[in-house]
Amino acid sequence: MESLKEKVTIITGGAGGFGRATALLFAKYGAKLVLADLNNTGAEAVAEECKKAGLPSDDILTVEANITKEDDRKKIIEDCISKFGRLDVLINNAGIGRIASLMNTPPDVYDAEMDLNVKAQLYMTQLAVPHLKATKGNIVNLASIASEEVFIEFGVYGISKAAVAMFTKTLALEMAEFGVRVNEAWSCAYKLL
Ligand SMILES: NC(=O)c1ccc[n+]([C@@H]2O[C@H](COP(=O)([O-])OP(=O)(O)OC[C@H]3O[C@@H](n4cnc5c(N)ncnc54)[C@H](O)[C@@H]3O)[C@@H](O)[C@H]2O)c1
Repeated sequence: MESLKEKVTIITGGAGGFGRATALLFAKYGAKLVLADLNNTGAEAVAEECKKAGLPSDDILTVEANITKEDDRKKIIEDCISKFGRLDVLINNAGIGRIASLMNTPPDVYDAEMDLNVKAQLYMTQLAVPHLKATKGNIVNLASIASEEVFIEFGVYGISKAAVAMFTKTLALEMAEFGVRVNEAWSCAYKLL
C-alpha cells in the first residue's frame, strides 16, 4: 500500500459508500485525490474526513460532475491535470443498481443503468488513458458479484456488470503493451448484512 504515496487518483462516485471508503484508504497512504460526484456536498464531506485523517488540504480536489455527460468527464480530467499535473490511477466506481426483474424493466431504467455503469466507464477511461500511459498507471473498474451470479431482481444491473467485467478484461489486454494495468474490484456488501 505504500506505493500509493503521491499517486494522483480519480475516484468517480467519490461521495458514496465504496468511493468514500476508497478515498479514506488512499488518503491514509498519502495519495492525492480527485473526488468526482454528482453529489458535491457529499464529496466535500468525504474530503473533510480525508483531511481530518491527515491528508494535506492541497492534496484533495472535489469536482461536481455527472459522468454520463462528456463535458463533465472532460472537466474531471482537465481539473485533475491542471491541479496535479498527472494522473496515476482511475477508479471507475460510480454505478447504480435498480431493483427490477428483466420483464419489468422499462427503457428509462435500462438506459440509466447502462449509461452510467457501462458507457460512462468506457468514455471516462478513453479520456484518462493518454495520461495513464504517461505514468504507466492503473485503472480499477467496480464490477459486482452480479456479473457472475444471477440476482433475479437485479436483471439489468447484472447485465451491466457482466459488461464491466468483459470491458475490464479486454482493456487489460489493450493496455498491456503500454504498462497500464486494468483490474476489476467487487465486494459482497450483502454478506455483511
Ligand atoms: N454496495 C454494494 O453492495 C456493491 C457491491 C458490488 C459492487 N458495487 C459497485 O460499487 C460501486 C459503488 O457502489 P456504492 O454501493 O458505493 O454506491 P453508492 O450509491 O453508495 O455511491 C455511488 C456514488 O456515485 C454517485 N453517482 C451516481 N450517479 C453518478 C453520475 N452520473 N455521475 C457522478 N456520480 C454519480 C452517487 O452520487 C454516489 O455518491 C458501484 O459501481 C456499484 O455497482 C456495489
